[in-house]
Parts: sequence; C-alpha cells; structure tokens
Amino acid sequence: YSTKNEEKAALKEAPSFAFAFDIDGVLLHVAKPIPGATEALQYLNEHNIPFILLTNGGGKHETERVKDLSSKLGLNLTTDNFVQSHTPFRQLVDGPDGLKDKTILVTGADANKCRTIAETYGFRNVVTPADILVSHPSVFPFDPLLDYVHAATARPLPAPIYTPSSAAPLADCLKIDAMFVFNDPRDWALDIQLVTDLLLSRAGYLGTYSPRNGDAALPSCGWQQDGQPPLYFSNADLLWSTGYHLPRYGQGAFQAAVAGVWRRLTEGHELQRRVIGKPYSETYRFAERVLTEHRHELLRRQGHVGDGGGGRHVPSTLKSVYMVGDNPESDIAGANGYASEVGTAWSSVLVRTGVWSPERGGDEVLKGRFKPTAVVEDVREAVRWALEREG
Ligand code: G3P
Ligand code: MG
Repeated sequence: YSTKNEEKAALKEAPSFAFAFDIDGVLLHVAKPIPGATEALQYLNEHNIPFILLTNGGGKHETERVKDLSSKLGLNLTTDNFVQSHTPFRQLVDGPDGLKDKTILVTGADANKCRTIAETYGFRNVVTPADILVSHPSVFPFDPLLDYVHAATARPLPAPIYTPSSAAPLADCLKIDAMFVFNDPRDWALDIQLVTDLLLSRAGYLGTYSPRNGDAALPSCGWQQDGQPPLYFSNADLLWSTGYHLPRYGQGAFQAAVAGVWRRLTEGHELQRRVIGKPYSETYRFAERVLTEHRHELLRRQGHVGDGGGGRHVPSTLKSVYMVGDNPESDIAGANGYASEVGTAWSSVLVRTGVWSPERGGDEVLKGRFKPTAVVEDVREAVRWALEREG
C-alpha cells in the first residue's frame, strides 16, 4: 500500500476518505473469508482509515452477526460500523406513526430469530407464520416443511383469526398492521399464502376478504387500498454470491414470487411494497450517517476532534467513500445513484469474486448506473486502488 498514507497516519492527519464494504462476495463466501479480506481490513484499522460493513444480509441481530464476522475474519469488529439489510427497520418502531404497539407479521429464514430481532428493535407484538399455522393448521393445506421448528417456536396468537362462523366480533380478531420480510424466507409457499391473505383482507383482519369491487358492506376499492397492512422487504437482491460457483437466489427472488402470485390473483395488479437495502438511497443515507458518526468517534479517540480538550486537528469532512461490492445491481448502482446529503463523493469499485464476473454478464452489463468507477480482482486490490487514488 502507499507509504504516503503511512506518513499521514504517523502525522495523525485525519484521512478525508473512507470505505464501505459489502460482505457476501467481497469479504466472505457465506462462512469462508475471501483471500485478502482480513489483510485489507487490518491495514485500514492500523492506519486509522474508517470503514463500514454494508450488507443486504440479515437474519441475526447486529450484535450476534458482528461477533460471527469478527471470528470468521479474525478481526475485532463492532456494531458501530455495521449496517445490515433490516437495520433501518429500527426507525419504524417509534414516532407518531411508530409500529411499536401495533401487531406485525415477521418472516425470514428463522422467523423466530427474526421475531427476537424485531423485539430487540422495540416492536412489541410480533407474530410469525408459525404462530398462525400452529393455531390454525387449516390455513395451509400442505404438510408443513418445518413443523418441528413451528412446534418449537410458535406462540399463541394475540387474538382469534376471523372465521365467518366464529363468535368473536371482527374487532376482537387478529389484525396485522404491517408485514416485514427480515431476510430470505425458507417456506415460500406458507409465507406467500399468508402475505397474500393479508393483502386481500379487510384492513388486515386475517381470515377476511375484501374483493376489489366491494359488496355493499365493503367500500369498493382498488387492490391494497382498504387498510391492508404495508409489506416491507429488507433486500431486493435477486442473486447473491455464496460458496457455490454460481450465484444463488436472494430475497429479491422471493419478492418476485410474491409479486407474481399477486399479479395472477389480481389480474395484473402490480404488488405495492416498500423495499429497503442496497441499491436504495435510503439505505445509503442511513449508512453514510453511521459511517460519519463512526469516523468522528475514531477521530475523537485519536485526539483529532475538538472535544473541549482542544483536539489537535478539526477533522476534514469526509470527502469520499469507496463502496466495494460484487453486485452491479445493488452495490454499484446504489453508490453511483446516491446523492450524499453532506457532499461526500461515493465511488463504486466492483470486484470479480462475487455475483458479477467477466463470464457472467461481463462488460455487457456494466453500463449506465451499473458502470463502476473501477473493476478490480478482489477487496485487497480495491483498497490498493483507492489508496493510490488518494495518494
Ligand atoms: O442475503 C445476502 C445477500 O442478499 C447479499 O448480501 O453482503 O452481498 O449485500 P451482500
Ligand atoms: Mg455481495
């Protein structure tokens, strides 16, 4: 790496650049570190160059995932500089439209683990597909794939499910106020059944049906306009890079399946959904705030930031961030399309160790918003390239 940065680090001059690293396909293939990943992060740590980890992955609470990453990469990572797909869902708990006390349906790989994450974020009434299935097995006509998981994790529902014959008045029945996909569901059939049941329901009451041109008792409405619960996805990745030599389906494939069933069911209506994660600017804005805060903390610890004790240098603003990723659709397009709220220039560096490769899509796909600032072999080369550029 360039020695000039070593001199700057020695002078304790705050670097005015930082990195954002994607994880799958850049640092890890699932559990296996990609060669050079640890060395690259170690170098940045030793030279006080800030970075964050910005992944569309999820399914574990940030504290657990960071512990896991630290042991896999052999580094001491913290949640200060870590953003995963569902981290921004935390912002939906409080505030005037907060969902803290509302009833939400949460699904994902281990839906019970996702429920724990949601509860740790502050959501207080979390229902999983297993809760519904165990309480009402007839809601899903097939042998459940994960019945042992359902039996071990299901909780009683907070209210009965509406059935025309049930005595309970509608107002006392289970009403889902929002639906969240925290990460890649395993039982797509059950999840699609329940999500579309709720999208067809009257105002989120599970077991009711609100036809498009409502009968006299129902307000006639277009689809998803009768108070049905909003549907949040945490990640749009159709593909991601694992230990297999070809990319695998990500949460974006599940989203496409839900949208496909919904289109059939409603004769062409496009599924209305809210999607976060890369490439969406909302996620990059969230990540930039985390990175800025983390950098200030680093600088304060190095005595740069005036903390009343007369820090030696007022840190230069963060002039540039290098987003190192493997997926043109999420990492590259996201960095290219993000207009920083603090004037930071985001550059995109594409590595050959993940979803994209010269053989799979090649330069053909690297056009327009998918065109990276640079294409390099791997994360080590990405850091080297950026340091050269910073001089
Ligand atoms: O589920 C993880 C996958 O969607 C991609 O993760 O780290 O490459 O953004 P990452
Ligand atoms: Mg990736």
